Amino acid sequence: MKRVSEAPEPSLLDAALALAAGPSLVLDPALRVRFVTRGAEELLGEHVPLGAHAPSLLCGEKTERPVAEALVAGLPVHATLARQTSAGATFVRVRGTPLVVAGKSVLGWLLSLDAVGGSAEDTEEELFHGLWTQDLAMKRLFRLVERVAADESSVLVRGETGSGKELVARAVHACSARRSGPFRAINCAALPANLLESELFGHVRGAFTGAVRDTPGHFQLAHKGTLFLDEVAEVPLELQAKLLRVLETHTITPVGGRDPIPVDVRIVSATHRSLRNDVAAGRFRADLMYRLRVIPVFLPPLRERLGDIPLLVDRIVEELNARSRRRVERVSPGAIQALRAYEWPGNVRELRNALAYAFAVGDGSDLLASHLPPEVLEGVEESRTVPPPPAPASESAANPEAKRVLRALERSGGNRERAAKLLGMSRITLWRRIKELGLDAPRGAAERAAAGTTLERRRP
Ligand SMILES: Nc1ncnc2c1ncn2[C@@H]1O[C@H](COP(=O)(O)OP(=O)(O)O)[C@@H](O)[C@H]1O
Ligand SMILES: [Mg+2]
Repeated sequence: MKRVSEAPEPSLLDAALALAAGPSLVLDPALRVRFVTRGAEELLGEHVPLGAHAPSLLCGEKTERPVAEALVAGLPVHATLARQTSAGATFVRVRGTPLVVAGKSVLGWLLSLDAVGGSAEDTEEELFHGLWTQDLAMKRLFRLVERVAADESSVLVRGETGSGKELVARAVHACSARRSGPFRAINCAALPANLLESELFGHVRGAFTGAVRDTPGHFQLAHKGTLFLDEVAEVPLELQAKLLRVLETHTITPVGGRDPIPVDVRIVSATHRSLRNDVAAGRFRADLMYRLRVIPVFLPPLRERLGDIPLLVDRIVEELNARSRRRVERVSPGAIQALRAYEWPGNVRELRNALAYAFAVGDGSDLLASHLPPEVLEGVEESRTVPPPPAPASESAANPEAKRVLRALERSGGNRERAAKLLGMSRITLWRRIKELGLDAPRGAAERAAAGTTLERRRP
């Protein structure tokens, strides 16, 4: 095996390809290597001679391997290949994109490579009740959900907006013995206290102006099923006491009513922030927290499972293809790179929005980086010019988020509705975040605050 150091100086083409597609190879229609970037040789752990037959190079002599098959068939492909290098077994993810000009035959191929940690098995794709992943932490979470779904313990899902909390709640329901019963979801942040109370517990006729008949609340409607309390940290203190009583007595008393009604409901709740901190700050009752978080479940943000991006992109593109005029056959490696470099404050929901945007603004069968929303591309520029900030020591280091929120507000000309859309969060979530981050202070001050904390964090 030849040493990598024999590779030639990076050429102009090498630099351009490395930037656009990462470590990559260009093949001709006969699948012979016509160009290889230095990064690709490093990943493969060997010198790749021009003219080499790519399937034999990548897959050994076993041409029945999926990559070889797809290449021969002219289909886009991604797969994980095991490589034996001097450092031991490593795994390389390959995305093969056919290069076609306006519907003509295949001119060749672009293969882009990625190093993956762990074993090939770890990167296998899994679909769990609507959640796609190939990430190990996510798969562990699925197994935990399966295990705890069977008993009746309350589950608390913690995760950023758009990371799949509601899907996890639905999965708990679907894996439980209650699966044939109702699943009800209520967003506790969306309603003022009195409305929330009547939505949760119902009300009797005459309880307040406009209460013309007895109306069951979510607890009654979820009887024999599961109730999902989204943004549970937002339940006002005065309602927390009532909620606790319901969980302890398994009965509810509707607003204006006297007689408790028995309810049999399993609670799954969700929060984007730490309930413990809210308890410490006196905003949340400790006894209620312990009732709700018997089984805490942590959903990692999308930026911590970048390996899921190509997979999610493929699934979402399939979905968008099915219901839009445009048909995207290939997502360019440059677009995948840009998507991987972005921080995704709105997680999978924002990724879906970004792809829907790309579908709408671009045309043709190729989804290119240039079709992506500006904030995604801006992320790419930033990551090239600014060294990545160190990982936050604690969740109190909220400044990158403040920056993102400010950027979205700036981009939307101060229109919160549009800014929320850009961030992939609801208007209510954005409004709350603005308050939490202290961004509703006069603009200059808020910006200085964001800049100040950034500087502080960069200091060693
Ligand atoms: N792992 C995933 N695979 C596929 N779709 C996902 C995944 N995670 C989230 N989504 C999608 O992203 C959107 C937001 O998910 P949701 O469960 O509502 O997030 P949250 O409740 O945390 O805000 C939904 O359209 C959901 O289908
Ligand atoms: Mg949600």
